[in-house]
Amino acid sequence: MCGIFAYNGDTDCREKLVNGLRMLEYRWYDSAGVVWITQKGEVFLEKAVGRVSALANKVDNKKKDTALYTTWIAHTRWATHGWVTELNTHPHVSSSERFYIVHNGIIENYKELKKSLEKDHTFYSETDTEVIAKLIESLYDGDLKSTMEIVAKKLVGAYSLAVVDREEPGKIVGIKLGSPLIVGSAVDGVYISSDVNALASLAESYTILEDHEMVVIEWKKYNIYMAGEQVERASQEVDEALVIDELWDFSSYTEKEIFEIPSVLENVWSGRIHFEKKEIHSETLDALWELDIDKICVIWSWSSSYAGEMGCYFFKKFSGIEAQTVISSEFLSDVFIPGKKTLYVFLSQSGETADVRESMKIVQAKGCMTFGVVNVVGSTIARMADMWLYSHAGVEVWVASTKNVIAQVWVLLTMALSLGLKRDMQIADARDLITELAALPDKIQQTLLKWPHIKKLAEKYSKYDHMFVLGRNYFYPVAGEASLKCKELSYLHYESYSAGELKHGPLALVSSEFPVMVFNPMGKFYAKTISNIQEVSAREGPVLGFISSNDTHKELYTDAIELPETSELLAVFTGLVASYLFGLYLAEALGRDVDKPRNLAKSVTVE
Ligand code: AGP
Ligand code: GLU
Repeated sequence: MCGIFAYNGDTDCREKLVNGLRMLEYRWYDSAGVVWITQKGEVFLEKAVGRVSALANKVDNKKKDTALYTTWIAHTRWATHGWVTELNTHPHVSSSERFYIVHNGIIENYKELKKSLEKDHTFYSETDTEVIAKLIESLYDGDLKSTMEIVAKKLVGAYSLAVVDREEPGKIVGIKLGSPLIVGSAVDGVYISSDVNALASLAESYTILEDHEMVVIEWKKYNIYMAGEQVERASQEVDEALVIDELWDFSSYTEKEIFEIPSVLENVWSGRIHFEKKEIHSETLDALWELDIDKICVIWSWSSSYAGEMGCYFFKKFSGIEAQTVISSEFLSDVFIPGKKTLYVFLSQSGETADVRESMKIVQAKGCMTFGVVNVVGSTIARMADMWLYSHAGVEVWVASTKNVIAQVWVLLTMALSLGLKRDMQIADARDLITELAALPDKIQQTLLKWPHIKKLAEKYSKYDHMFVLGRNYFYPVAGEASLKCKELSYLHYESYSAGELKHGPLALVSSEFPVMVFNPMGKFYAKTISNIQEVSAREGPVLGFISSNDTHKELYTDAIELPETSELLAVFTGLVASYLFGLYLAEALGRDVDKPRNLAKSVTVE
């Protein structure tokens, strides 16, 4: 979604502005804009459709800012209201060109507000945001802070906003409800950002604003207010690990993140799994055991969906607990029947996804137990949850979630094993599994080394516009995740089915021009899936198998990616990694921008 980045301080604005926006661009990137005001009250407004680099060129051509202090508010946009045009690009401005505003979120009552303002104001854009700029002007009472309190009461929806007044050049007011807003403090000034990553190389400490809070920045100092009263809020040190690393010799950040998976796994289990003693240590998981749970409900939005589905298989198999998954946006539309013995697990990489966040509010309002599995430390969903575990995948820079999905699957497996060890699961089985898990980073490394072969196959299959992706049991959600990643990155039509369902309908489409990808490592359902492969071959459908190296029917596959020898369970991880490489190289073969797939945003902070 949109990224807000703002600054008040005493250094040249342009380099930091562009770097900061680039750090936010990994989430949002259809257009970008900035307004900056010098100490002398000069105003520069620049907007550009496209990537931040387009804005950077325009900013570079501006006259050097020679004044001592400078203030700017900047934005990268992911359009919700109005197409991607320069007029719709933020910052938006009031009619007298006095107040400028950047916004992340959606104003649900913008039409009514617009109607009431239309007699005094002419609107130039189709956005909901412009309405706020006009509203500020019409309600201005001589003080920007108190005006913003009045404005906030009129807005329905989700927003984080940063506002400047050209007549008060050293001041920025920020407010939030729903969407994130973070204040960063540095020697050279104060920053506001939608994302702590953008502050990582600039600020020393940061404070995450709570809903309804307001920050007023004036001449390098800031105060936080709630309902007009100043509040003291503790700040946290910026973690340098949040600084986005070099690309090294990878072709894209997506490729780099896939190759980071072995080390991510070591991070995720560090301090949680004791391989020598074959035990799981976690205060959180021990506390979970104290709860009287008879059901687990996993709630997510799409990138986290298949990890959730896999988690349900694990909870049932390893903990003996009934488990189901729910799409967060559907959870919001459905009737909620609270389960007092149900643990509601919320999965989110960003920890900011609006549908997931709002679902959590509904669950909490009924007094039910919430558990977050979140990657971004300190994010809204992590802060809201009654209990949580971080997935510790590190900063995931570009849109397609890969290393975090693996980390989520891992966390869910750890939860299931920990609950299972304490319930009715055979301790010896769990301990054998823990021993085997120790070898996983190495098995993933072996899978990654197969990249040249996978790349060749991806190039071959890039000529097909459609592909079904099949699997059974754990490999049904693995097939779903593979198909999601392939379509998201390549824009080809990949669609997953349970292998057993193929014959009930989808088979009608299979032909020599419509291939099938299948996950079929050796295991309990191997033979049944072999029958499904034969159904495809009988219709001349090419079959690409993700298989074990000791597969006994290799001749049935048109092409195969052999996964390192592991148990069926570990093949979930190696299979996912192999499919990520396949999706990545498929997209590269088609010349796609893999780091920034069209139409998508990394983090969706509106419903
Ligand atoms: C698109 O690829 C995005 N990654 C996004 O739509 C995502 O599926 C969704 O917002 C869930 O993200 P989360 O895991 O950060 O909650
Ligand atoms: N609704 C605003 C717009 O369309 C902001 C969008 C967002 O936060 O994603 O410009």
